[in-house]
Amino acid sequence: VEKYAVIGHPIAHSKSPLIHQAFALQFGKTIVYEKVLAPLDGFASTVQQLQQQGYVGANVTVPFKFEAYDLSQTLSERAQAAGAVNTLSFGQTQIQGDNTDGCGLVNDILKHHQTALAAKKILLLGAGGAAQGVMLPLIAQGPAQLTIANRTQDKAQAMLDKFADAGGQCGVSLAVTTFAALTETYDVVINATSAGLTETPLQFSSHVFGTHTLAYDMMYGRETPFMQQARTAGAQVADGLGMLIEQAAEAFFIWHGLRPDTAPVIQTFR
Ligand code: ATR
Repeated sequence: VEKYAVIGHPIAHSKSPLIHQAFALQFGKTIVYEKVLAPLDGFASTVQQLQQQGYVGANVTVPFKFEAYDLSQTLSERAQAAGAVNTLSFGQTQIQGDNTDGCGLVNDILKHHQTALAAKKILLLGAGGAAQGVMLPLIAQGPAQLTIANRTQDKAQAMLDKFADAGGQCGVSLAVTTFAALTETYDVVINATSAGLTETPLQFSSHVFGTHTLAYDMMYGRETPFMQQARTAGAQVADGLGMLIEQAAEAFFIWHGLRPDTAPVIQTFR
């Protein structure tokens, strides 16, 4: 039986084993998929142990996605762009790193929120690891405009600079702004800040939301101040559960070469 794991700290809350088992069931496959708690200073040795025990691959979650990037001997283009790895494949000789988070976000928006991103005006809130992880897949959809707003504007500018070439190639107008300077309305607003972990509201005008706007919070499991603000403004609101399941589906495809049906799995987890 092929063995997989999700490595994090903490890890008890992870839904990845249930999601991957649900996918495996769709194909009549039997897999082992375990939660592995790595010590904060022991990610590399944990990976080594899994390899020695014959594991085929592992997902990586907080706070190890950057260490997983460093540990990978080959990196997909999207993992390179993200600067982080959430999916490891243990080859005979090499550890391959990929990142399916951005693809998961885009697929959730396209498939389950019936919203195309091509030619749209997108606002991305945040410039941390989560935001950088979704930049390339968003740009690849060919939106008309992708604006990054962050509390710390320098950080947003530094992130944007990394994607200037990709933006140019895809004909996407990239811009950086502060929360306070946001005045326009966007077709899609994505919250990639970690502010939703607290009750701290983000300080920006509700004018960013129209009634046609998809307001997407990458967080799931709770109604964040961002979601409340968007709902009050009449926007269509989405949480990150679909992204979680779509990123898992992409990892499943990397490992098994099979594309699971995600809609029923999202339904089950609602
Ligand atoms: P993650 O991996 O979740 O992206 P991170 O790299 O620490 O975590 O980035 C957190 C993001 O949330 C950043 O964009 C951060 O803004 P700064 O770059 O200005 O620090 C943003 N963030 C966190 N708490 C916030 C708050 N209370 N208000 C506004 N932005 C916040």
